[in-house]
Amino acid sequence: MKGIILAGGEGTRLSSLTKITSKQLLPVYDKPMIFYPLATLLKAGIKEILIIITPKHAGDFLCLLGSGKEFGAKFTYEIQDKPEGLAQAFVIGKDFISKDAVAMILGDNIFEDNFASAIKNFKKGGHIFAKEVIDPERFGVVKFNKDRKAIKIVEKPKKFLSNYAITGLYIFDNRVVEAAKKLKPSARGELEITDLHNWYLKKGELKVDLVKGEWIDMGTFDSLLKAGNWAKDQVEK
Ligand code: TTP
Repeated sequence: MKGIILAGGEGTRLSSLTKITSKQLLPVYDKPMIFYPLATLLKAGIKEILIIITPKHAGDFLCLLGSGKEFGAKFTYEIQDKPEGLAQAFVIGKDFISKDAVAMILGDNIFEDNFASAIKNFKKGGHIFAKEVIDPERFGVVKFNKDRKAIKIVEKPKKFLSNYAITGLYIFDNRVVEAAKKLKPSARGELEITDLHNWYLKKGELKVDLVKGEWIDMGTFDSLLKAGNWAKDQVEK
C-alpha cells in the first residue's frame, strides 16, 4: 500500500494566513499541520509516501520533510500546477502508485483514529470513512440505509442529505488511477473525489465505515483553533 498526502490547494478560507505560506505548513499547537496526517499514515504502517504540493511552496515542504529518512519513510514529491481537484492526485501520482493500492489523506485533516487494521485488511475496491457532523454542507456527504450501508454520496449537498461527512482518508485499489483519468471536471472546474466514490459505489465495491474519535478538517479559522486546542490536550495527556 502506497500513501499520498495531498498538500496543494489555495487555502483561501484561511487568507491572510495563507498569503505567504501553505495551509499545511501552518502551526497546529507545536507542529506544522502536515505532521498530523503524516503521523496517521506512518501509524498505519505506510512507508512510501507521495507528497503533492504547489510550485509556490515546494521548497518549504522539501526543507521541512526532506527524504523521509528522519521519519523512517521514503518521501516522493510531485507538483500540482493548479488546484484542479482532489481526484487529480491519482493522475499526478500514477507513476508513484504503479501497480499498488493507495491510501490518500488530505494534508489539512487530523484523525485520532488508527487505520492500521483497515489498511492491513484492505483487499479490493474503495474504503472510506464518515463522521457525524453538524455542518455537513461543507463536505462530501453520505447517506446510509437502515443497515448502515452507503446508498448515496453527494459533494457539498445544497439540500439536506444526512449528517455524515466523508472524511479526508481514502483507500482505493489500483483501478482508481484509470477511473481518475476518465473523470471530467465538475461545474466548479475540479476533478471530484466524490465521483470516484460513486464509481466504486455503483459497482457495489465501496465500504464506508465510521471514524472513531476526533476528526478535524482544518480548513477554517474556527476548525484550525479547535485543532490547536485538541493537539495541546494530546501533548498534555
Ligand atoms: P480544500 O480545503 O477543499 O481547498 P483549499 O485547501 O484550497 O482551501 P480553500 O477552500 O479555503 O481555498 O482542500 C482540501 C485539501 O486538499 C487541502 O489539504 C488542500 C488539498 N487540495 C489539493 O492539494 N489540490 C486541490 O486541487 C484541492 C482542491 C485541494
